[in-house]
Amino acid sequence: MDLQCLRCWNVLSLLLLLPGRFWCMSVHILNEQPVHVIPGTKLVLTARIEKNLWEQISMIKWTQEPETGHDRTKVTLATCPAKSPKCSGERPDVQVSLKQQETTLEMNRYSTEDSGEYSVTVTDRSGANTTGRCIVREYEAVHHVSVSINVSHSLLVCHEAWGTDPSFSWLHERAAITQQVGKVSKDGDMLIVTMTPICGHFTCVVGNKLGYSSATYTAAPCESGGRGMTAAVVCLVLLLLVCGGVLAFLLWRRRRKNNMGERLYEHTDDTI
Ligand SMILES: *[C@@H]1O[C@H](CO)[C@@H](O)[C@H](O)[C@H]1NC(C)=O
Repeated sequence: MDLQCLRCWNVLSLLLLLPGRFWCMSVHILNEQPVHVIPGTKLVLTARIEKNLWEQISMIKWTQEPETGHDRTKVTLATCPAKSPKCSGERPDVQVSLKQQETTLEMNRYSTEDSGEYSVTVTDRSGANTTGRCIVREYEAVHHVSVSINVSHSLLVCHEAWGTDPSFSWLHERAAITQQVGKVSKDGDMLIVTMTPICGHFTCVVGNKLGYSSATYTAAPCESGGRGMTAAVVCLVLLLLVCGGVLAFLLWRRRRKNNMGERLYEHTDDTI
């Protein structure tokens, strides 16, 4: 009889616990990933907690650990007991807040060492928990820009090493690319050259929030431009020669006239 009652209670408690078994709570970080942060600026991560009405949060914890390497020790950044409105940060430059279904982590001056995997763990009353993660990396400047040519396909390819969100643009002889010169690919890192033969200076400019860097591919000098220049110089020399000739002739004529006048004067002088 006693044993049966015990069994009864067990079944009953199991039934009572059942809603807790349907674990629905989830948390995910809303930032677009990976998050890139410029050192010295503020890192802000926001996480959204999805839960049913009967589920109650008892604790929120933000942690950080290196993305790679052997020593992947997890560092607790802040914990928030749901009961008290104040979250306690382990670091003075880190603040965590909890507003309804959202929790936000703010780090005032992000530095390179703060890169890594950030996690937010939400624990409910029964002790069950769920975790949202995101990768945070340093926003890197543009590095090592170079241009190479693919002769068989008349392509110029611009390479950049590890800058964050690089954007590409092209110049030919320091001017924007015209239809006569070529067409820039959708990603911007390639220039399909349509001019033949390929000549002059092609510059690829790569930039992001931290600045710009560029590289130039130098093809043979453009012929038409060179010929035009030579022609212009020859014309100028000819023009100068002609002008000089005309001037010399005019001077010579004037001098001759003067000489004749003098002689005439001398003659009249004699007769008097
Ligand atoms: C040139 O470009 C084409 C098309 O993108 C590619 O298939 C080919 O491998 C490239 N050649 C070289 C030498 O890079």
